[in-house]
Amino acid sequence: MAIATRSAAWHALLPSLVPAKPRIFFLRSRPGRFLSHAHGLRPCGAASSLPPGEYLPPLFSVAPMMDWTDNHYRTLARLISRHAWLYTEMVVAETIVHQKDKLDRFLAFPAEQHPIVLQIGGSNLDNLAKATELASGYAYDEINLNCGCPSGKVAGHGCFGARLMYDPEFVGDAMSAIAANCDVPVSVKCRIGVDDRDSYEELCTFVDKVVSKSPTRHFIIHARKALLSGLSPAENRKVPPLKYEYYYALLRDFPEVHFTLNGGLTTIEQVSASIRQGAHQVMVGRAAYNKRSRMVLEREHGFVILKSPWNMLGHVDSEIYGMPTRCSSRRQILQSYQVYGDSIIGQYGISRPNVRQLVKPLLHLFHSEPGNSLWKRKADSTLRHCKTLAQFLEETLDAIPDSVLDAPVLMEPSGEQDYFAHVDSLLPPRYAKLANGSYESPVLVTASS
Ligand SMILES: Cc1cc2nc3c(=O)[nH]c(=O)nc-3n(C[C@H](O)[C@H](O)[C@H](O)COP(=O)(O)O)c2cc1C
Repeated sequence: MAIATRSAAWHALLPSLVPAKPRIFFLRSRPGRFLSHAHGLRPCGAASSLPPGEYLPPLFSVAPMMDWTDNHYRTLARLISRHAWLYTEMVVAETIVHQKDKLDRFLAFPAEQHPIVLQIGGSNLDNLAKATELASGYAYDEINLNCGCPSGKVAGHGCFGARLMYDPEFVGDAMSAIAANCDVPVSVKCRIGVDDRDSYEELCTFVDKVVSKSPTRHFIIHARKALLSGLSPAENRKVPPLKYEYYYALLRDFPEVHFTLNGGLTTIEQVSASIRQGAHQVMVGRAAYNKRSRMVLEREHGFVILKSPWNMLGHVDSEIYGMPTRCSSRRQILQSYQVYGDSIIGQYGISRPNVRQLVKPLLHLFHSEPGNSLWKRKADSTLRHCKTLAQFLEETLDAIPDSVLDAPVLMEPSGEQDYFAHVDSLLPPRYAKLANGSYESPVLVTASS
């Protein structure tokens, strides 16, 4: 019942019902060294009707993923979806501050990648402020602070990432410092809890503190807690159970804040279903990069669907934004990507980037399609000698049948429309906010409240 009422208001976020308010951002003033329109991204741009700098809301975003969502992957993702918001890998504030003369290597991106969010990490206020200031020249569309990474290097030794959830006061100050040094919105990406600080009440306290101390009005909620000792980062993305009900309870209890749902979403149908259920925005990580393993899907969801980034991202523009699909085939995408790749090989030194780095995000494009295994074998041997992406594609792509290369992205009905139907009954009780800012006594939601 509560969900239905909230959904009505949130429908204003759906561009199919209300024309999207264009967001205007400053484009990078210095001419970038990355590809421009002349570098050939246009072949896939036929459906790109938005003028530069005007974007649809972040209904769908691709998660920040270290070593995965680099410039090359993001270029590929942008060729597949015009409207998905893209996050960078986390860049540590100290890296930005201490590498001042090599900033382009960490922060430059092709203009076509807008809308794009820079994720930074750190726990030193001065460095976070300085890093934001330095990053401002690159015209990211939002700056995000990582409060969810559980890795030992980050949350342990580094004392940031998910560790910051222990100190909401600090996160409030950090967000305030970040916001003061940029002219774009700021956001926090966090877990629903950390270690035994995992009650809904503690999550509310975290959000409330950050909102009251800074202009942050957007949180990305990875809907499982992080365990800071005993689990590897990969285990921390699958062992702690997903609690989508915490996310939906935040929507109920913080109507002035925007929340993005993240964690465990593997199909475009689940993304649509979560938005129908009232989610403001949805972020997808692993399923927008590679396949999810059969075992993981079975354990987490009790069903098996094997998808590739093509299937996930290829549906975003049409299914989530109600806009034309950007690219008609993987052949077209590869043609555009090859022009991009070959224009930047060696840009930052003899092997930076090299063909292997450029090929990495392509390797899941044909997952579970005819010819995929042969293509992977050919890729392995060709990478040992090829010097350009054009050469790589020429020597390997004959493994993939034309029927696959030229196939449009197809919707495969999965019958999981009710994926989120159970969440309503699990919502944690609403907490009353006390004068001191904490949430102490649970107030059970009644029909009249
Ligand atoms: C290889 C890898 C690297 C990641 N790196 C980051 C990161 O740099 N910053 C971050 O906030 N989350 C990072 N994450 C977590 C994802 O952003 C996301 O929250 C998580 O994968 C859950 O979403 P999913 O189930 O859709 O994959 C990473 C995840 C993976 C798989």
